[in-house]
Amino acid sequence: MSASLNARIEEARAQALAALSSARNPADLEKVRVEYLGRSQGRLRDLLTALKDLPAEDRRAAGAKINALKEDLAGALSGRAEQLGRSGGSSAAGGADLTQPGLARQVGHLHVISQTLEAIKDVFGALGFSPVEGPEVETERHNFDALNIPKDHPARDSFDTFFLSCGLLLRSHTSPAQVRVMESQAPPVRVIVPGRVYRPDAVDATHFYCFHQCEGLMVDEGVSFSDLRAVLTMGMEGLLGAGTKLRFRPSFFPFTEPSAEVDVSCIFCKGAGCKVCKQSGWVELLGAGLVNPAVFEAVGYDTERYTGFAFGIGVERLAMFRYGINDIRLFLENDVRFLEQF
Ligand code: PHE
Repeated sequence: MSASLNARIEEARAQALAALSSARNPADLEKVRVEYLGRSQGRLRDLLTALKDLPAEDRRAAGAKINALKEDLAGALSGRAEQLGRSGGSSAAGGADLTQPGLARQVGHLHVISQTLEAIKDVFGALGFSPVEGPEVETERHNFDALNIPKDHPARDSFDTFFLSCGLLLRSHTSPAQVRVMESQAPPVRVIVPGRVYRPDAVDATHFYCFHQCEGLMVDEGVSFSDLRAVLTMGMEGLLGAGTKLRFRPSFFPFTEPSAEVDVSCIFCKGAGCKVCKQSGWVELLGAGLVNPAVFEAVGYDTERYTGFAFGIGVERLAMFRYGINDIRLFLENDVRFLEQF
């Protein structure tokens, strides 16, 4: 056999195998196939053509060698195709792995605070309270003065807030919406006002400078403290489960008189004392009271004819309690590992 043809065959084998092992995708493989095995201009075809220049006695052995190379290359091609298919590329036949699971589309859902607000709206909606909204940027009159919190009153301190340069402020509670509702309609009133509020509190596990409240307001003839108690008891039973008990502790808010801080019995230990309720059996969830006649005067309601009650629920606090969450910061960190649990 001619030494030079033999060398050309071996050279073609080495180059073809190198090209195959560096092939990364079906297109690379196809290039190698065309270059070596292509019917019209493939290198193996050239080698076969060169046979005719060999002395007759060498032709058979050289032909057998070229055919063996052809078979080896075909085998190596399909082996490499299979390898690429397994490691993520698709095979030369274009076949993806049909047994692989499809790409699931990720579907989001409501934030746990939005879900809690929806639950509050449902429960109080069933008791006849319509949801309304108030602006987050408020006037001093709505946030303070009309709520019987005059400029020099120490109660302003606990509702101190972010003032904007134009004289407006970020509301420090949802109570200003009471004023807006009463300014815009005559009694009877039965509304809830869910929304965001702001206070320059230092951030820790139970404080954040921005959180949510849900205000409740009912005004009519003959509304009494027992109506407040009945509505809140039914509302909290709806939100926290039948048998939830309420405890009213005397308190002070300038816009209600009398005022109360309202605690609910711990749903985890049923009042026996546990980590969530700090062993007390009770958790403070809201402020409430009968509307102070001074507020009715500020909005022009007849204080002889009408009475009413108001309450303000801390929404994060309610959600933390309902779900046993121990840090308010989790609501705002947008960590899906937390959010997807609810
Ligand atoms: N606005 C009060 C607060 O933010 C809560 C409250 C609302 C109290 C309505 C009484 C009546 O603390």
